[in-house]
Amino acid sequence: MLRRVVPVGGGELDIEHPDARRTLLDWYAPHSPEHVRLTLVSTLDGRAAGGDGTSESLTSRTDRMVLGVIRQHADVVLVGAETVRRESLRRPRRAALAIVTTSGDLRGHRLSTAEGRTSPVLVLTTAAGADRAADAVPDAAIETLTTGPDGRIPATAIIAALRARGLVGIAAEGGPALAAQLLAADLVDELCLTVVPRLGGPDLPVLGGGAAPVTPLTARQLLVDDAGAQYGRWSLRP
Ligand SMILES: NC(=O)c1ccc[n+]([C@@H]2O[C@H](COP(=O)([O-])OP(=O)(O)OC[C@H]3O[C@@H](n4cnc5c(N)ncnc54)[C@H](OP(=O)(O)O)[C@@H]3O)[C@@H](O)[C@H]2O)c1
Repeated sequence: MLRRVVPVGGGELDIEHPDARRTLLDWYAPHSPEHVRLTLVSTLDGRAAGGDGTSESLTSRTDRMVLGVIRQHADVVLVGAETVRRESLRRPRRAALAIVTTSGDLRGHRLSTAEGRTSPVLVLTTAAGADRAADAVPDAAIETLTTGPDGRIPATAIIAALRARGLVGIAAEGGPALAAQLLAADLVDELCLTVVPRLGGPDLPVLGGGAAPVTPLTARQLLVDDAGAQYGRWSLRP
């Protein structure tokens, strides 16, 4: 059972009910078709991975449902290459998948179309990474972008490249390195953060390490499940 505690009196949802997904789609409707939503799962002490070194040991059926409805509202799912290398990430059912990489190294990816998922893959990379990325995912569209002084593609250029292709609803799913860049560049409209009742794990801060500007957020929604996991929607815009 999911209780919607913000907005107050928001009701309850049995996620086994046949209409549960429709209700979640309504609860997670974006403020605008053009949006950047950052969706992550964290332990109570802010770690982005569990004992297996991935978020797969933190997530749950309800969390995957929430992720699914956020994807359904999006045109594209955006991830960093380390997430592709480390997680069993598959192509989204409907949205496109965009991967950012300087190296073009997508070893270990599970983006085969063999399971019947054929949504398009776009790799945003550098001149140095383009051939390697094309070899790794032969049906992917490869876009080459210029890096900044830090050797990475500027976060603003990543979002601009997606929007130029008409991919305006953006579900950014991490990892923490990419999430931190999007936040630092003030590109995130909404943070959808699941916090699971667990402590400890690898040294992988969910929003990247180091000091960051203090940013007050507005709670748009908070769901709590029977295990005490919290599913927040936090707006970064006034
Ligand atoms: N808790 C969660 O919700 C969640 C979500 C996703 C992932 N994870 C976990 O987080 C870890 C992976 O996250 P991470 O923070 O280490 O890495 P990440 O953000 O997934 O990927 C980092 C890599 O992406 C590429 N990249 C990122 N920003 C770039 C830029 N501006 N320009 C060009 N390339 C860029 C680079 O790839 P190259 O090295 O190829 O150049 C970089 O090494 C894994 O353990 C994963 O399981 C957790």
